Amino acid sequence: MKTKVYIETFGCQMNVADTERAATGLRIAGYDLTSAAELADVVLFNTCSVRERAERKVFRRVNEVRARARKSKPIIGVMGCVAQLEGEAIFDNAAGVNMVVGTRATDRIASLIDRVRIGETQVSDLGERATGESWEVSPVERHSPHVAFVPIIEGCNKFCSFCIVPYSRGREKSRPASEIVAEVKRLRDLGYKEVHLIGQNVNSYRPRSEAGLEGIQGATAFCRLLRAVAETGMPRIKFTTSFPRDFHPDIVAALEEFPNLCDWVHLPVQSGSDEILKAMRRGHNTTDYLRRVDSIRSSRRRLALTSDIIVGFPGETDANFQDTVKLIEKCHFDALYIFKYSQRHGTPAAKLPDDVNEAQKKQRFLELEARHRQLQKGIHESYIGRQVSVLVEGESTRSARDMTGHSSCHKVINFHGGAANPGDLVNVLITEAKLNSLYGEYVN
Ligand code: 5AD
Ligand code: SF4
Repeated sequence: MKTKVYIETFGCQMNVADTERAATGLRIAGYDLTSAAELADVVLFNTCSVRERAERKVFRRVNEVRARARKSKPIIGVMGCVAQLEGEAIFDNAAGVNMVVGTRATDRIASLIDRVRIGETQVSDLGERATGESWEVSPVERHSPHVAFVPIIEGCNKFCSFCIVPYSRGREKSRPASEIVAEVKRLRDLGYKEVHLIGQNVNSYRPRSEAGLEGIQGATAFCRLLRAVAETGMPRIKFTTSFPRDFHPDIVAALEEFPNLCDWVHLPVQSGSDEILKAMRRGHNTTDYLRRVDSIRSSRRRLALTSDIIVGFPGETDANFQDTVKLIEKCHFDALYIFKYSQRHGTPAAKLPDDVNEAQKKQRFLELEARHRQLQKGIHESYIGRQVSVLVEGESTRSARDMTGHSSCHKVINFHGGAANPGDLVNVLITEAKLNSLYGEYVN
């Protein structure tokens, strides 16, 4: 019988993509993948370290699996960001863990497992990717039969002072455009309806060679990549995350040229206070950011705009926080992801006192969320009476006669299903605005 591997994924889309890639490699190496932890011979946790809470959750799960599998004693591995950052210290801190697999060792997991199976008790690999490693992901390992994540750039060179990513994922490395375009064409031929071009900062994309971009115009390599990918005819293309400083207006021009480039931009601002932005070392101030927002909002196309904010960064005063409230009032974000500052060991901000106490962080979080909800309500209501294109994902959890999916502007749309099937691209007439979604009727 083949050895069964179970992988549980935490965190961002990049981790999801790494899991898919790891699973592809494991299956080629003769392993079987299972979705049941209790049946597995090998249990892998693909981890996130962006905030402390995510990190703690992993160690809770390791303990749970260990307690439940007292007899079968599976091999337990920690992969991803926590593995990269903590390295072999994990062996001391989490009993039962036999493998530590860094963020660039995803393609070597099979040989690491083999080493444990022949008797090594603690195996780790925190090395870089080997040159020419395959990005091939088998369709059976993809998280969805309709939507595929396509990494275009790994790592981050920005070193925002609060952020652990440059340490957990290393320097920016762009994939050749020829490879990306070929992957999107394959996905199109397999019937995928949507790809997400993913990376910590997609618009910092800078491949080493022209391959795949020949003859394609654009102000930056990313703008050219967008056009090259759009020309494959993939029905829907989304991209995330964009970094404000590198957000060129030519991105908006590309979205206007190609209807299959979706009408959504995720552009994290992090704070509305210039003083805090400077301490965060973001490389943009609010004026720079608002200029980018202007180019997005003044597009001929109606583009949805979403963002991330951190409240309670060291030294954030009430006045600084109120500047953030004022900024979101100017931007009218379609969605906003708010986080309470979490000190990350090894980042520059960790040298500053974490001086906004938990109660203040919570209060700012709630105040900002409430204000955002009011603004978002207006945006959601403005969709009533309009038609949106929806990629159907399945039955709605609320009601079996309703279907659910995402619009091209990346909103959750529930609708009275009619003849729609998962994987269909359908038009939905919006009739109701809800808190986290829109509701509508299928239009034939
Ligand atoms: N504390 C809180 N939130 C953080 N993020 C990144 N690092 C931290 C941190 N130390 C948030 C940022 C980023 C999102 C993915 O996570 O808002 O855009
Ligand atoms: Fe972190 Fe800043 Fe890089 Fe984003 S741009 S991953 S916030 S360091």
